[in-house]
Amino acid sequence: MKITVIGAGNVGATCAQEIAKKELASEVILLDIKQNYAEGKSLDMWQTGPINSYDSRVTGVTNDYSKTANSDIVVITSGLPRKPGMSRDDLISVNAGIVKSVTESTIKYSPNAIIIVVSNPLDVMTYCAYLTAKVDSSKVFGMAGILDTARYRMFLTEALGISYKEIQAILMGGHGDTMVPLPRYTTVAGIPVTELISKEKLDAIIERTKKGGGEIVNLLGTSAWYAPGAAAAQMVESIVRDQKRVFPVCAWLQGEYGLKDIYLGVPVILGKKGIEKIIELQLNEEEKQSLNKSAAAVKEVMDVYDNMK
Ligand code: NAI
Ligand code: 2OP
Repeated sequence: MKITVIGAGNVGATCAQEIAKKELASEVILLDIKQNYAEGKSLDMWQTGPINSYDSRVTGVTNDYSKTANSDIVVITSGLPRKPGMSRDDLISVNAGIVKSVTESTIKYSPNAIIIVVSNPLDVMTYCAYLTAKVDSSKVFGMAGILDTARYRMFLTEALGISYKEIQAILMGGHGDTMVPLPRYTTVAGIPVTELISKEKLDAIIERTKKGGGEIVNLLGTSAWYAPGAAAAQMVESIVRDQKRVFPVCAWLQGEYGLKDIYLGVPVILGKKGIEKIIELQLNEEEKQSLNKSAAAVKEVMDVYDNMK
């Protein structure tokens, strides 16, 4: 198994380290365009081996895609992060150029790779990678839902005083303020969450979740990386170990949920072939409306990308 992470910044380096710690691959390549940056970070990671007790070796390279050849999975994190006052969509023009060129080089050397996109604006960058890679959509998808759901679960954990391990939840839609948390599908040890928390408190948690990325941008002056890096590595793990876990993933829809030709967050089964199945929930009218609203917001940014081309 060979895994490449493109972009050795905050998210990429965290993701590479999580992959190494979980020993998901014998070979992990970390690539960045900045001279010696990935090399330096990889050396530092390697030196945590005796402390963290893992044997995977992360090798850093400066923009040399020949070293990524025949990767089984490639995680794309290259691109600008959000700064205070910016929406994820503001990043489109710069990041589209980066994601396009990175995907071209990736596919040239690893034509069979599964590609996981993390760069923002996530849904549209995943669309960009899909158009560029020209491979089946089961092999090109984006990470956002695991992160957004993790935030939602931790906020619920705090409010309920119950372990996150008991909280199951699913979040759909685009990776933006229109994302669609689904209280009807949120359970605590099998108990519907609505039986354990007031509507006001749950609504406040949902609002905080929707703005969870911005909350961290305002604190840090750049976007989050621990949870995003770990979330991308969890997707890698489900694929490498063929775990067939159900995660919300940014996937190419072809009629599911009544939506077509759009990348959007939906629950999927992730296994060794990538997206093995898109799960269609029986949404009620209100949930469908929220999903359609989110899809319309993503489509608007997709149109911006299409017009840029
Ligand atoms: P960062 O600035 O720390 O790292 C980005 C890295 O990409 C830099 O090291 C830069 O040199 C590299 N890079 C730029 N152009 C490149 C190219 N052509 N080839 C290879 N490397 C290149 O940013 P950070 O915080 O790691 O965020 C990365 C991306 O992930 C951003 O677009 C951010 O918005 C996005 N993000 C997405 C999340 C999600 O849930 N999908 C969550 C958090 C961040
Ligand atoms: C996040 O949600 C900004 O997408 C990034 O943290």
